[in-house]
Amino acid sequence: MLQGVPYLVVERSGCTATFYLQDCIAGMQEHLAEGSVNVVVTSPPYNIGVKYGSYVDSLPREKYLEWLDHVGMAIKRVLADNGSFFLNVGNKPKDQWIAWDVAAVMRKHFVLQNVMHWVKSIAISKSDVGNYQNISGDIAVGHFKPIVSDRFLNDCHEYIFHFTKKGDVRLDKLAIGIPYQDKTNIGRWKSAVADRRDRGNTWFIPYETIQSKSSRPHPATFPERLPEMCIKLHGGAKLVLDPFAGIGSTAAAAIRSGVSFVGFDIDRGYLESAIARLQGS
Ligand SMILES: C[S@@+](CC[C@H](N)C(=O)[O-])C[C@H]1O[C@@H](n2cnc3c(N)ncnc32)[C@H](O)[C@@H]1O
Repeated sequence: MLQGVPYLVVERSGCTATFYLQDCIAGMQEHLAEGSVNVVVTSPPYNIGVKYGSYVDSLPREKYLEWLDHVGMAIKRVLADNGSFFLNVGNKPKDQWIAWDVAAVMRKHFVLQNVMHWVKSIAISKSDVGNYQNISGDIAVGHFKPIVSDRFLNDCHEYIFHFTKKGDVRLDKLAIGIPYQDKTNIGRWKSAVADRRDRGNTWFIPYETIQSKSSRPHPATFPERLPEMCIKLHGGAKLVLDPFAGIGSTAAAAIRSGVSFVGFDIDRGYLESAIARLQGS
């Protein structure tokens, strides 16, 4: 199914993770057949001056959006008609439109079927919750980068835009469902046959705690749990793609979910980290 010579193929539990050290637009064109990918989970550079190993993250906004337009077109070609494209994008304090500008570009090519909030950190006061037996006091959970400013709040969330070709893709919502808080709901609704309900579109996914900077080989990753939830929500995938593979968070999630993976990155060091991560898993 995949054409051309990859940088490396890792075999794990009956699945393969295929990595190409290549620009993703050229790579998708060269190696992936039309409609061959079931799920895309990715996070592009946000154009906010992140210091990547190879990529320079500071294009003029117009050029950046033009480039992502081409990425969107390339993804549309390789995505199956009933496929899902999950696009994670965030903002920066002084530029709160990035994510929505990127989403507007993709609107030309896809239907926006769902918008999820990736919540990295949240504070919940006992007084707001009321009488929940599992919450006994005020809680604040998750990691975020503190913003020292009297204008901007700490940025504790990003977006996951779920694009599809026609907006009609059926999802396996209960695959990432949660138990009912009130068990009397089970059996009350036609759909409530087991103790599991749709979790909704606010996903609390904390970053793993990192002890030192040296254990962080990439400046802008998402936690493995994020692509894992996307892959499970879509359900039944055979091939998952991440055009901006980085250190392989989507690759690891795909393999863990029993699905083969293909990914591109222009940075050899990141791909080496991704490969080591999979080989060590
Ligand atoms: C936001 S990071 C993705 C990180 C990834 N989600 C992870 O958790 O490891 C974006 C990645 O895109 C890569 N990149 C930038 N331009 C690219 C291009 N034209 N083709 C493929 N990858 C590219 C960068 O090297 C960087 O690793």
